Amino acid sequence: MCGIIGYIGMQNASPILVDGLRKLEYRGYDSAGIAVKNGDISIHKKIGKVADLESILPKKIEGTCGIAHTRWATHGGVTDANAHPHASEDGKVAIIHNGIIENASQIRKHLQSEGVKFSSETDSEVLVHLIHRNLEGGSAPLTAVRKALRRIRGTWGLCVLFADHEAIICARNGSPLVVGIGEGESYIASDPHALTPYTQRVIFLEDGDLAELTPGDIRTSRMDGSAADSTVTTIEETWAEAELGDFPHFMLKEIHEQPEALRHCITGRTLGSEGTGKLGGLGLSPRELQRISHVRLIGCGTALHACQVGRLSIETLARVPALAHVASEFRYNDPVIDSNALYFAVSQSGETADTLAAVKEIQLKGGRVRGVINVVGSSIARQCGSGAYIHSGPEQAVASTKAFTNMVAALSLFAIQIGRARTLSRAQGRNLIKSLNAVPNKIEEYLANPGPIAEAVALLSKAKSVLFLGRGVSAPVAREGALKLMEVAYIPCLGYPAGEMKHGPIALLEEGSPVVVIAPNDSHRNKTISSIHECRARGAKIILIHEEGDSIAEDGDISIPVPSTDSMFTPLLTVLPLQLIAYHTALALDCDVDRPRNLAKSVTVE
Ligand code: AGP
Repeated sequence: MCGIIGYIGMQNASPILVDGLRKLEYRGYDSAGIAVKNGDISIHKKIGKVADLESILPKKIEGTCGIAHTRWATHGGVTDANAHPHASEDGKVAIIHNGIIENASQIRKHLQSEGVKFSSETDSEVLVHLIHRNLEGGSAPLTAVRKALRRIRGTWGLCVLFADHEAIICARNGSPLVVGIGEGESYIASDPHALTPYTQRVIFLEDGDLAELTPGDIRTSRMDGSAADSTVTTIEETWAEAELGDFPHFMLKEIHEQPEALRHCITGRTLGSEGTGKLGGLGLSPRELQRISHVRLIGCGTALHACQVGRLSIETLARVPALAHVASEFRYNDPVIDSNALYFAVSQSGETADTLAAVKEIQLKGGRVRGVINVVGSSIARQCGSGAYIHSGPEQAVASTKAFTNMVAALSLFAIQIGRARTLSRAQGRNLIKSLNAVPNKIEEYLANPGPIAEAVALLSKAKSVLFLGRGVSAPVAREGALKLMEVAYIPCLGYPAGEMKHGPIALLEEGSPVVVIAPNDSHRNKTISSIHECRARGAKIILIHEEGDSIAEDGDISIPVPSTDSMFTPLLTVLPLQLIAYHTALALDCDVDRPRNLAKSVTVE
């Protein structure tokens, strides 16, 4: 979603703002803009990447107070005029905004009827005109913003700059904002890790909070004017700025980081002798684990696919009902929440609005929800209050890879832990823990010799559409492979349970259609072979992901072996060729693999 960075202090603002935009670019990158106060407010903004904005910036922009923004378009096309910041007609007020204003068109019409001239198509612009009018009416900056927001229905992460006041006013409702505390300096950002080069002391604004930033002072309050109980948090885990290093793209780097990332996720979370997992952050005793009536896992996109793998592992090992839900559907289907159930919110960014909304709905109805999150201190992590961080490290590529494998690993650890609190034997648990601990090396082994990826890319890069098939835990892997190829190579893909293919998608097949089949040597293997034959009978070309040494290799036109592991952990290996295939196909098609069109790394609007 949109990236936000602001600074007020003694230093020149623009270098800090541009550096922050670079760190936030992965959140959204249709356009970028900067506003700096130096007497008047100077605004520079442009479609494209942060580098495109930098190319039009003056060598030096005087001013020690400013705000900046990277945009992921929700209302209004990708144009220079629609880029943020937006200014009042006299240029005395500038705003940057992340969120959606649901009643923007009514407010726009009203303002226009009173002679206000708009310069963009965006919903956000109504805010700057409302604030400006309140200022003109004699309100102080904080009051002017508060009054304007009272007329808004929707979500906001908002920063406001004033030509005639030495302050930045910020407000949060639904879109993340975090204030950084410096020595005589104050910062604001949409992501805590954009602040860690400057300060580790932050205040996470909550929905309904406002903050008035002046050099060296931060005052927070609520929309009703009451005091906000803002606590200062020290960000322990500073996210070392993820540099590309020797890799050409973040996606490839993060694919290759999976062995190390997985070690970070599982180390210290297994009790080999007892044969169990140990996710202490869940705060659930064996007795509580025993009493869980059922488990529901909620996520979007790749996180949803991890949920779908996790639910199978939980049912298999703990014999407790488990379901995965699309977060964006969950809240709006008026779910029945069982206080004896356990809910998981799974999210890499911890900022996905659909997932955050589902968490709030569950809590509102008395449900227990735990986070399985990558970004420490993110909104969903804080809303849940407890859970398990997956420790993937910064994931910058829009296409999620190492977060998927770590989400699956964390949920597998939970499956073992709840299983051992129930019917899973110590011996079974010990075997599983041993197998899980061996997976990072197996990933390394595969990545060192990934097999005929180029042949698969040659076939897929010419495809009109691609069908991905799998059964059991491989069905969500099929969906994940389809999502990867779609989002980075823009090829229409369908990930489907293999057994279901004959009930419809088989109609897509014609001579030469590529079908990717994930077929580890598990209980579904032979049925999957039948699905392969059904596809072949219609002229399909089979790209087969299979376990090393399995004779099933003969059933593929392009067969890609991965190391064997326990059937529950095969997604951690069978997903790897799918990630590489997506990456290399995107390159073959000259797509922007780290910043795919229309996408954002973290979707903080519903
Ligand atoms: C995955 O490659 C996509 N970028 C997207 O589907 C993503 O998984 C989804 O938006 C959920 O994001 P989250 O894990 O940060 O909640």
